[in-house]
Amino acid sequence: MGSHSAVLLQVFIVLCLVVFQSSAVKVDADLNTTLTVDASDSSGSPIPDTLLGIFFEEINHAGAGGLWAELVSNRGFEAGGPNTPSNIDPWAIIGNVSYINVETDRTSLFDRNKIALRLEVLCDTTGDNICPTGGVGVYNPGFWGMNIEQGKKYKVVFYVRSTGSINLLVSFTGSNGLGNLASAEITGSASDVSNWTKVETILEAKATDHNARLQLTTTTKGVIWLDQVSAMPQDTYKGHGFRSDLFGMLANMKPRFIRFPGGCFVEGEWLRNAFRWKESVGPWEERPGHFGDVWMYWTDDGLGYFEFLQLAEDLGAAPIWVFNNGISHQDQVDTTAVLPFVQVYYFTVLFSFPYYFFLPARGDATSKWGSLRASMGHPEPFDLKYVAVGNEDCNKKNYRGNYLKFYSAIRSAYPDIQIISNCDASSQPLNHPADLYDYHLYTNAKDMFSRATAFDRTSRSGPKAFVSEYAVTGSDAGTGSLKAALAEAGFLIGLERNSDVVHMISYAPLFVNTNDRRWNPDAIVFNSYQFYGTPSYWVQLFFSESSGATLLKASLQSTLSNSLVASAITWKNPVDGNNYIRIKVVNFNVNGVDLHISFNGLDPNTVQLSGSTKTVLTSSSLTDENSFSQPKKVVPIQSLLQSVGREVNVVVPPYSFTSFDFLKQSTNLEIIRTDSSSRASI
Ligand SMILES: *[C@@H]1O[C@H](CO)[C@@H](O)[C@H](O)[C@H]1NC(C)=O
Ligand SMILES: *[C@@H]1O[C@H](CO)[C@@H](O)[C@H](O)[C@H]1NC(C)=O
Ligand SMILES: *[C@@H]1O[C@H](CO)[C@@H](O)[C@H](O)[C@H]1NC(C)=O
Repeated sequence: MGSHSAVLLQVFIVLCLVVFQSSAVKVDADLNTTLTVDASDSSGSPIPDTLLGIFFEEINHAGAGGLWAELVSNRGFEAGGPNTPSNIDPWAIIGNVSYINVETDRTSLFDRNKIALRLEVLCDTTGDNICPTGGVGVYNPGFWGMNIEQGKKYKVVFYVRSTGSINLLVSFTGSNGLGNLASAEITGSASDVSNWTKVETILEAKATDHNARLQLTTTTKGVIWLDQVSAMPQDTYKGHGFRSDLFGMLANMKPRFIRFPGGCFVEGEWLRNAFRWKESVGPWEERPGHFGDVWMYWTDDGLGYFEFLQLAEDLGAAPIWVFNNGISHQDQVDTTAVLPFVQVYYFTVLFSFPYYFFLPARGDATSKWGSLRASMGHPEPFDLKYVAVGNEDCNKKNYRGNYLKFYSAIRSAYPDIQIISNCDASSQPLNHPADLYDYHLYTNAKDMFSRATAFDRTSRSGPKAFVSEYAVTGSDAGTGSLKAALAEAGFLIGLERNSDVVHMISYAPLFVNTNDRRWNPDAIVFNSYQFYGTPSYWVQLFFSESSGATLLKASLQSTLSNSLVASAITWKNPVDGNNYIRIKVVNFNVNGVDLHISFNGLDPNTVQLSGSTKTVLTSSSLTDENSFSQPKKVVPIQSLLQSVGREVNVVVPPYSFTSFDFLKQSTNLEIIRTDSSSRASI
């Protein structure tokens, strides 16, 4: 008994030692993780050209007061609706009722937006009611202040009419009306302005104020009407109206597609408030604008259907037009009545295509929209190859019925157009035909990271996945944390590894104006003059070379599969003509990892690896975010990687996303000349 228990004790000790040793070995194994990459040219598989794109929704003032550079908000005084008295917000009156009466009436020159502003000026330069210094009139503060910068030019356009002669001062001032940043005097005789007259003037700023306002003032007694007041910076991208700094942030991503204009913006809370493409084309003065009742703000629709197509073209991205299929959040068009919507759709496509492309019964309508497009400066058709039928409507009563009406109409007229369904087919087949299907994912960080395998078991036949909206949300994300970005990076690596079935990926939302945060987090944050990318923005840049690249077979031997994911691609840099192998690794763990990378399949005589770089996104805390004061607190940092060969040992930092770029050289070793450490330059 005694000896027996001694044996048991010994066994217990041995077991403890074994357990202790094996756990010690386990830690070593964790720290020594191997990624084996098959780098032979033949074993890779092509990644779709369209893999990484962007999703632009009119949310958070992304367009109006954002990418669309128009400085005046509610430029036609229509935001309060078509009836009088209407609401002129954010316009405000300069002077009190002793000097001026301001009201809205329905005398506009433009049929679709009848509201104009009537100013009855009671004071004068002489007589017993002298106007105050600086005059009386109205001002517009823009979208939380206009960014007016010294030396830059701004084109101010407005329509005016009067019962007498006019003498108006058009000026940019500080937010309190003081300080003249730029101004022009507009005069006209009574006969000049007895009817609506378009006034255009270029103002050049003498000083900078990021919170300026536009004023229209006078010291002359009389009645003046104003309508359609616009102020556009002259330095927009190619003069196309896109704010250059924000456009640059998009261009950096090398997006291969742009999904627009929503999102829920397309649906509307009610159908009557859904985006109507037809009312967003043609001269800007004639657009009625509309109130987006999901994100609760008015848009003048300066960024309309044409401008979205232009944006896509300027970015070199394929436009993906999401159209309303007769379903909003609160109401739906029954499938039996959806044909008028189908016709609306037809006209849209015809706007994008040459009018001679399709001449069925509605030939006259086709020439109408085709020539309108030409009159807007784009005689060539736009390259519209993708449309999405609705947004997040799969479970709505009429979705399938309405979808099928659109599907058959589009398919028969335009067999080459790819049609996107709202119904997720990642785990079960669709009950209707589609080329692609939407997959949306908003979740916490842990779940997002685990979704790296979401498409591993998806059927390889059938429609392809369009991950058209994804983001970590909630407390893990704050307003754009490192933690959220790393979890998304893990998810994206999983998508890249499944790019035989995942053909398109876009994060959401793209933009937020900090004065109207309707949704957190977002990829690009801005106000009137500042901007930065959140860590989630920077993560996407790691994938900008993946579109059209080749996915390599890569297998990770590690016990850290719950917190470590990796992928390998080979891509050709069009700038230097060289081929690179890019390995991306997300370490979603508190410990660093010694990663051993082993390349197989490289031809020993002709191909070798040489000078290479490492780019790391990490920070001291998972909750770290970027901000206007520290826009580059969490950004990728690139450095040179030493001594690269067929076997590479690298350290992957805790909680990090790392990309290794190895140059495939057919000659002798070549060192890429780069700074040893440069910020944000992947
Ligand atoms: C890590 O693993 C590789 C491949 O199995 C091996 O060659 C190397 O010696 C190991 N390194 C350490 C520190 O154990
Ligand atoms: C308008 O402003 C002037 C100057 O400040 C003042 O004398 C006058 O009483 C004001 N009138 C009204 C109706 O408030
Ligand atoms: C005023 O201008 C409009 C638009 O140009 C024109 O249709 C109308 O005839 C003009 N009215 C007068 C009285 O000149």
